[in-house]
Formats: sequence, structure tokens, C-alpha cells
Amino acid sequence: MRDTLSDALLSWYDANARVMPWRVSPADRRAGVRPDPYRVWLSEVMLQQTTVAAVRAYHERFTARWPTVQALAAAEDAEVMGEWAGLGYYARARNLLKCARAVAELGAFPDTEEGLLALPGIGPYTAAAVAAIAFDRPATVVDGNVERVMSRLHHIETPLPAAKPEIRAVAETLTPSARPGDYAQAVMDLGATVCTPRKPLCMLCPWRDGCAARLAGVAETLPRKMPKKVKPVRRGILYVARRGDLWLLEQRPDSGLLGGMLAFPTSDWGDDPKPAPPALADWKDAGEVRHTFTHFHLILRVMLSEAPGPPSRGEFAPLDPGTLPTVFRKAHTLVTQGRSSKR
Ligand code: ADE
Repeated sequence: MRDTLSDALLSWYDANARVMPWRVSPADRRAGVRPDPYRVWLSEVMLQQTTVAAVRAYHERFTARWPTVQALAAAEDAEVMGEWAGLGYYARARNLLKCARAVAELGAFPDTEEGLLALPGIGPYTAAAVAAIAFDRPATVVDGNVERVMSRLHHIETPLPAAKPEIRAVAETLTPSARPGDYAQAVMDLGATVCTPRKPLCMLCPWRDGCAARLAGVAETLPRKMPKKVKPVRRGILYVARRGDLWLLEQRPDSGLLGGMLAFPTSDWGDDPKPAPPALADWKDAGEVRHTFTHFHLILRVMLSEAPGPPSRGEFAPLDPGTLPTVFRKAHTLVTQGRSSKR
């Protein structure tokens, strides 16, 4: 049963694998081409919580600027944080660097799941994904796509996240010893392109005949999920102080949200933020920006001054807005173009 299912999926993948800049196609893989563990690892870290479409350009810029893990390990923290800006979940970027430096120290990526898991900043998902994709180890990779595929194939009615152990168990049973790297990528591609959250394309699915949820007529409704908590709204005040081409910027503390990122100074964020202007100035209200984080919505009142006094924190510096996290880029767009950008 396991081999029938994995063979069917691998044949599907041979014909339908998506092309990605870090991926070795099934045909090249057969001809003996090995994926570059550095590029695979980088892609998997970037793809957590982010779509393939968004990651492509970042991956290309990172690998153009830092072609090897040694090059990345030697980069300045601020350079890497600047390139990461806009991808979100900035702790990932700090962990990325920690991991790159550990790998550079070792000389190469470990080629087993356990060895990878021992690296700083690599969790069970990344260890399994890199072991499978880069080293063709029979590791079981479970991401959101795989959870959806497995919950449908086995008609699992338990809601997420309670269903995770059950899903992992069935995913492990299905993982083949032949071509495990292609298989891992195949399940993810199937989830992304055929077994989609809404309107799955069951007629194109290599697993349609054995899919318990499809046979029960409930594929589209799975996986079940526990109701989401509503996100609270936090408010804050953001200060944009300009002197000609120079902007008052500070680096956020390493720990905490947007840690280590370049930022405009802000007040605290909460129900009733206290004004905390970083300089004496005639502050003008420039509007507001909104941004949604994992656990809350943020609304920032943007105060602007073009003739601020000496700052009490931060420094005046030239600014490439591309190096700002998205919420601050929105404030930059607001004051330069008089509107809030969408992303
Ligand atoms: N999503 C995350 N990693 C992926 C991969 N290696 N292939 C396809 N989709 C993915």
C-alpha cells in the first residue's frame, strides 16, 4: 500500500514538479545532480510562514550576494537583516545567521536529520526537510500542505492542532525509502497545486482512488481546525524625523518583535500608548499605518517632523526603505507619498 501510493505520487511529481530556483528537477536528480544543501536550507527557512512566490526573489538576492554558507556566515548581522526585511518573522533571520556560522565552523552541513537538528536555529521541520531534500534521507516532512493532504487521504476528523500527532504518524508510515527527497517535495507540491485548501482538483490527483475524505465527499472541508482566537488591536505612535536626506533611525533590541531590525522610533504598543518623542520638534500628524502580526493588529499614529532638535535616541542616517520591516516601510511610504502602502 505504502509503495503503491508513493510510486503513484512520484510518477505524478515526475510530470508535474514545480520549478524552483533551489530545486533539482526529478530528471536532473535521476541523472545524478545533487541539490546544494545551502540553497535548500535557505529556501526552507524562508518558506516557513511565507509563500513560494514571495520567497523566490529573496532567495535569488541572498544567493547572489552570499553564494555559499561560508559567505553568509561572514556577513555583518545588519546586512543580512536588511536583505531579510519584508519577509517577516525576523527571529528566523537571526537564527539563520547563527546556523550559518555553526555550519561554517563545521565545514559543511551535517547530512542526517539528527545532525541538522543539533544546529542552532534548526527545528524539526527544517531538519527533516533538508535531510530529505538535500541528502535524500527518508525523513518525514510535515508542513501545512502535508497536514491537509494527510488529513484528507485518511479522513482525519480531529481538528488541528490536536490532530498533529495522528497526522505525523500516517505521514511517517507513507514515507518511502526510494527517492525520499523527491517524495517530500511531491507531497508539498500536491498540497500546493492539487490538494488545495478550497476547491481541490481531485480529478488530477494521483491519490484520488484511495482518498478516504474524497470517497466520503468531505475532502474540501478538511482539515478541521479549532476556532482561531480573535487578534487584539494594539496602538502606538511612530515618529518620523527628517533632516533633508537623513532620517532618524534606531536598531530595535535583538529580543522581541522585529528584533535587530532597523526602525523608526516608536512609543510602546498597547491600549493607551504614552507619547515618547525621540527629539524636541514640532510634530505633525501624518496619518496612520496598520499592520497585522501573528498575534495582534497594530495601528500606529505617524508623527512627522522635518526640523527636529537633537535626538535623545537613534541616529540620523540615509535610508534605503527596502531594508525596513514592512510596518516601517508603510510609514515611510505614507510620509513620502501621502498614502499607506498595501504591503
Ligand atoms: N514548501 C516549503 N518547502 C517546500 C518545498 N521544498 N517544495 C515545495 N513546497 C514547499
